[in-house]
Amino acid sequence: MQPAALERNSTATYLNGGGINAYLSLLRQMQPELYALIDLDRSAAAELEIANLNQASWEFEGNREGGRGQAYNKAQRQLGNRATGMKSLLRCFASQAHTPGPGFKLLDVLGGDGTLTRFCAAQAEPGPDIITADISRLMIEACLAQGICALRQSATHSLIANNMLDGVLIAYGSHHLVGGERQIAISEAWRTLRPGGRLVLHDFETGGATARWFEEVVDPFSRTGHPYPHFSQSEMRSLLSSSGFAVIDIVQLDDSFTLLGNSPEQARTNAILHMYEMYDLVRLEGHPVNDLAPLIEDIFGPITVQPSGQQYLARIERQALVAVGEKPTRSQ
Ligand SMILES: C[S@@+](CC[C@H](N)C(=O)[O-])C[C@H]1O[C@@H](n2cnc3c(N)ncnc32)[C@H](O)[C@@H]1O
Repeated sequence: MQPAALERNSTATYLNGGGINAYLSLLRQMQPELYALIDLDRSAAAELEIANLNQASWEFEGNREGGRGQAYNKAQRQLGNRATGMKSLLRCFASQAHTPGPGFKLLDVLGGDGTLTRFCAAQAEPGPDIITADISRLMIEACLAQGICALRQSATHSLIANNMLDGVLIAYGSHHLVGGERQIAISEAWRTLRPGGRLVLHDFETGGATARWFEEVVDPFSRTGHPYPHFSQSEMRSLLSSSGFAVIDIVQLDDSFTLLGNSPEQARTNAILHMYEMYDLVRLEGHPVNDLAPLIEDIFGPITVQPSGQQYLARIERQALVAVGEKPTRSQ
């Protein structure tokens, strides 16, 4: 059995030096609408597993833990860096009955420091009510510092009660779920969605250009390595069906990186530096721009630059693989 002092220490390191109960008490006062979605039996079970959560979350924690969370978050200050893909993912939640506007409760399962929430807040049309979830303490503390509605939890153990959500997004990191975790995370989505609610699962196709990028560049050169398998269409279909979802669609979506600059050269440099920072390629020897550019262009094709208003937009083209599932209503 764990010594009592260690147990206290591990529960005290859920968020901001406190345990999960301290965080839930705060939520109850500050965000009663989020607190109302929590299943207290599930949070009590999570409290016992915080030491494991802390061990599992290292990759997107800070440099001290050997993670790449700090560099990743810095790269996400460029709000529109995946604008096309994010807009398309939000459209995948639109069913006849519910479009993802205000009042639509959307859980962003691998939400980081709230990239999607900030992106939606910057759009002209008001977006859904997003709850940003993430396993990393750094990410969720960064959300709280920005006033973003957030929960620290694993994709495989959601604190949300049954049938509460209109949408669940598992995106921009689904390959970090390995082995049986994929099915458990999708079953957690099914459990927490209301009947008729949608799951959108996003990743990259095995054997495609983005998988090559991760294998040939991110794995050898990033601070953390990246030894993760991606997804096939048939795996996505089988994961969704096995958890009880009706599969609505499995598609390739344009999920290009788009970065602005005040000149064509600056836009191109910003795009290359964005890739360096987002993947924290500290083990790449040589110049971050000159030596990374040929690798990017070999894998994704030429970086294009076009005028965009008063500025220039550089584009690194990539495709994502996206599956959309719907939790059947009782009558279906
Ligand atoms: C590539 S980042 C994406 C963050 C954000 N969605 C974005 O696009 O900027 C992947 C995130 O998934 C989180 N993550 C990885 N495994 C997880 C798990 N099992 N449960 C919850 N979050 C996880 C990481 O901590 C990280 O913040």
